[in-house]
Amino acid sequence: MITDKQVMILGAGNMGSCLLGGICRAKLVPPDHIIITGLRKDYLESLAGQWGVHWTTDNKKAVEQADVIMLCLKPQAIGRVLTEIKGYLNPNQLIITIAAGVTTSYISAQIDSVNPVVRVMPNIASLVDEGAAAISVGDHGDDHHLEITAQIFRAVGRVVFVREDLLDAVTGLSGSGPAYIYMVIEALSDGGVKMGLPREIALDLAAQTVLGAARLIQETGIHPAVLRDQVLTPGGTTIAAVHDLETSGLRSMLISAVETATRRSKELSSQA
Ligand SMILES: NC(=O)c1ccc[n+]([C@@H]2O[C@H](COP(=O)([O-])OP(=O)(O)OC[C@H]3O[C@@H](n4cnc5c(N)ncnc54)[C@H](OP(=O)(O)O)[C@@H]3O)[C@@H](O)[C@H]2O)c1
Repeated sequence: MITDKQVMILGAGNMGSCLLGGICRAKLVPPDHIIITGLRKDYLESLAGQWGVHWTTDNKKAVEQADVIMLCLKPQAIGRVLTEIKGYLNPNQLIITIAAGVTTSYISAQIDSVNPVVRVMPNIASLVDEGAAAISVGDHGDDHHLEITAQIFRAVGRVVFVREDLLDAVTGLSGSGPAYIYMVIEALSDGGVKMGLPREIALDLAAQTVLGAARLIQETGIHPAVLRDQVLTPGGTTIAAVHDLETSGLRSMLISAVETATRRSKELSSQA
């Protein structure tokens, strides 16, 4: 569906270059159908050379040729760039935005047009093709636009579809979530070090334990509580540790973390 499209990545920074890599590795579109833009010529030339795609610092010129425009800018740059390109858009072009807190209705109002706008909240694990992205469509888009967007984000991980008002909760869970899990992994490896393991080995075991536990949930579809029960030997080591975690409120802390980050995401969106 996307193979014959001209794709523009507007703002090929961390996320933009990561999506570029995903699109190219998955061969979603031929490299000569892709154009990336940014502010620094040397950087763009080198990134474009790596994947064999086109580049320019002229957003307007690139927009005119694109079928799909991926806005990968920082939220504070979005308004300025939309003002710059609005006169060069045609109403059939799909606009995909990943800017945190920037709504599809804001984008539609800025460009004053009926272009379909799809909003995505990805996360940093897209860098290793294990991203979690939630996708929602604005007023002028439909399932076809959602599917084109999903194809792109499936190239760098998993995709779910949600209503746009739930994207703050997505930010609180999977958007900010890698940071929570890094803390968990670091703490687990500290525990290993405390019990005498060399740091490198402890970190390796901790990270692989998180990865493996997550994989088991995804591959078996079994609820985590059931999987946990399966590793609790009566009177054994794990149930003793689980009791400790319950007493310390691990579950309650993580629930609160998601709630707090969701609330903060809402605050930031309303300020934007
Ligand atoms: N990073 C994440 O984990 C993550 C997760 C979820 C959502 N997001 C969202 O993704 C968006 C991008 O984040 P990021 O971390 O990729 O930021 P970033 O690395 O700063 O990328 C933004 C890029 O846009 C370029 N740019 C700035 N003004 C421009 C203009 N007028 N025309 C063309 N390009 C321009 C910047 O160029 P220079 O580098 O030369 O300034 C930079 O390369 C943000 O809105 C963020 O909310 C990020």
